Amino acid sequence: MAILITGGAGYIGSHTMVELLEAGRELVVVDNFLNSKPESLERVKKITGKNFKFYEVDLLDYDALDKVFCENDIDSCIHFAGLKAVGESCAKPLLYYHNNITGTLNLCEIMQKHGAKRIVFSSSATVYGKPASVPITEDFPLSTTNPYGETKLMIERILKDLHAADNEWSVSVLRYFNPIGAHKSGLIGEDPQGIPNNLLPYITQVASGKRECLSVFGNDYNTPDGTGVRDYIHVVDLAKAHLKAIERAETVTGIEYFNVGTGIGYSVLDIVHAYEKATGIKINYKIVDRRPGDIDECYANPEKAYNVLGWRAENNIEDMCRDSYNWQLKNPNGYGD
Ligand code: NAD
Ligand code: UFG
Repeated sequence: MAILITGGAGYIGSHTMVELLEAGRELVVVDNFLNSKPESLERVKKITGKNFKFYEVDLLDYDALDKVFCENDIDSCIHFAGLKAVGESCAKPLLYYHNNITGTLNLCEIMQKHGAKRIVFSSSATVYGKPASVPITEDFPLSTTNPYGETKLMIERILKDLHAADNEWSVSVLRYFNPIGAHKSGLIGEDPQGIPNNLLPYITQVASGKRECLSVFGNDYNTPDGTGVRDYIHVVDLAKAHLKAIERAETVTGIEYFNVGTGIGYSVLDIVHAYEKATGIKINYKIVDRRPGDIDECYANPEKAYNVLGWRAENNIEDMCRDSYNWQLKNPNGYGD
């Protein structure tokens, strides 16, 4: 039986494929390269020496996705495919709702039809909105501040209703905190298009000389040094959480939510300093205004993932900075054209 990976060519999908292939799993992968390149899949093969079936399919194309299930024995799915840029989601809400929600509805309908009722879904800490306190546990109130976050929350609700209607489903909702870093080989990593929105890809491009100076968005937050605090997690640790989640899903039905973070909060300036320490390169930065919508602090209580999945993050912040720089050095233009 195979695991369907939607969005496998993307940043987290490609790292998860490596872990699954190395664990001997059979994979069927779909992606439409909306935000990725075919080269990432070639690199996954290079790292693992293993192969998998790939379909260039858009989740919005019901018939094409149905065909993937007709041609393969798929019993479970790890669902990464979706658009993820917060700012873009505010400018193009319909694109985000259509792609993320309709794509997931198609997927779930087809899974149901083929009796494949196991899904691991990529949710986000963004569903906690502006948390009243930290660390965050899974039972915190949910709310969102932008269309992207709204799609994550809506999909969580769709999956909850799906399980309520048919309790043969096994649903694992993984709420990721801030994934960074890259595979140690330097063959796969994050390949943002244009100016990076997120902190680590931006710092990495400053370190490599591609950009002059990091803008630190505000130093008047209610945090120890005034800059925003987040829970950064190595993408390989995050990838390993998916293997644990799928192993558990094979033995139980039900719906469960898991925070996937380290439980440690680092400020923007902590990250700048950790990056400098890990690479020996000075990071130029300047303090600018806050970015609209940003919150003071966000970090996980990851105990449930440890108690139920037996998963815990292993890499520290310097590992994350070093590996992201290694990827940048080896691939100055990402996966290229
Ligand atoms: P990514 O953009 O690198 O990967 C997503 C992949 O999905 C891309 O390869 C893209 O081409 C594909 N895709 C998008 N829409 C599709 C469609 N309609 N049909 C087929 N393929 C489609 O993003 P990522 O960082 O790897 O994130 C994976 C998932 O994790 C996303 O759902 C994202 O919202 C979620 N997530 C990411 C972060 C983060 O900071 N990276 C944090 C929390 C949650
Ligand atoms: N930051 C800067 N300068 C930059 C970029 C970011 O100072 O150039 C700061 C932000 O203000 C924030 C921190 O660095 O304090 C982290 O910002 P990111 O953009 O890297 O990450 P966010 O926490 O804002 O959001 C990310 C994803 C969201 C996801 C969320 C929770 O982009 O999609 O994590 O998982 F919802």
